[in-house]
Amino acid sequence: MAKTIDGRALAKGLRAEIAAGVSELRARTGVTPALAVILVGDNPASISYVTAKEKACAEAGIVSHETRLDASCGEDALLQTIAGFNEDPSVHGILVQLPLPRGFDERKVIDAISPEKDVDGFTPVNVGRMLIGEECFLPCTPFGILKMLDFAGVGTDGANVVVVGRSNIVGKPVAALLSRREANATVTLCHTGTRDLASFTRRADIVIVATGRAGTLTGDMLKPGAVVIDVGVNRVEDATSPRGYSLKGDSDFESCARVASAITPVPGGVGPMTITMLLWNTLESARRAAR
Ligand code: GUN
Repeated sequence: MAKTIDGRALAKGLRAEIAAGVSELRARTGVTPALAVILVGDNPASISYVTAKEKACAEAGIVSHETRLDASCGEDALLQTIAGFNEDPSVHGILVQLPLPRGFDERKVIDAISPEKDVDGFTPVNVGRMLIGEECFLPCTPFGILKMLDFAGVGTDGANVVVVGRSNIVGKPVAALLSRREANATVTLCHTGTRDLASFTRRADIVIVATGRAGTLTGDMLKPGAVVIDVGVNRVEDATSPRGYSLKGDSDFESCARVASAITPVPGGVGPMTITMLLWNTLESARRAAR
């Protein structure tokens, strides 16, 4: 039976370190880290993520400027909001929760964020810097995955890693980070065009699954002893739950846990780490501003 990699416990320790860093920075320089959190529309999952991010900021002593815009506000209003935060020296990080409602040009909106405040690491400048190994903000979920592997004692040097899913937020950047010399893994990036996914995952020492589809990975697709990092958060109908749904990852936890040596649970795995690395990047941005 696989060991469960406890993202909540790791996140708790790191958040205590971040809170101490926030206090130290404030005492030494008078600067309090601040994050602008922008949510457009009323997607229930986005509301719950944004609420969790704001709560985590408060607990770490980071100021959060909450901005809620109606889905009908128009792209110009959103771009103006971003421009205001770009120019405000008391704000160190800007986050626009994705996905945006229909009618917004996501690329154009992300491009409007100053790279110096892009604590999500989504702007082309930060993506480019990441690829060539320059100082940048690493995207929070891939950054959190690297921390989790390290915490769990899972070495990546020479490992065969299969990433399933090629999103800009997770799949592509985590594949790039694990390919860097520091991580030194051999990375295969699988996606919806991959023929015979199981033939790839069965060779993997580490499988990172980020497709947004429950049941993408099952135990029969794993090599015995493999490590599974499950990035998915899927709302699956569940009449036994008071909410009417339960949260499931992209992997079938029960069958994978029987074959793997370690696996991240959903909830309580990658999710808490994503938010933690957002706090980390915001503190880092404030430190740079205070220099
Ligand atoms: N939507 C899903 N994940 C993320 C994330 O890490 N940052 C933002 N801004 N939106 C997201």
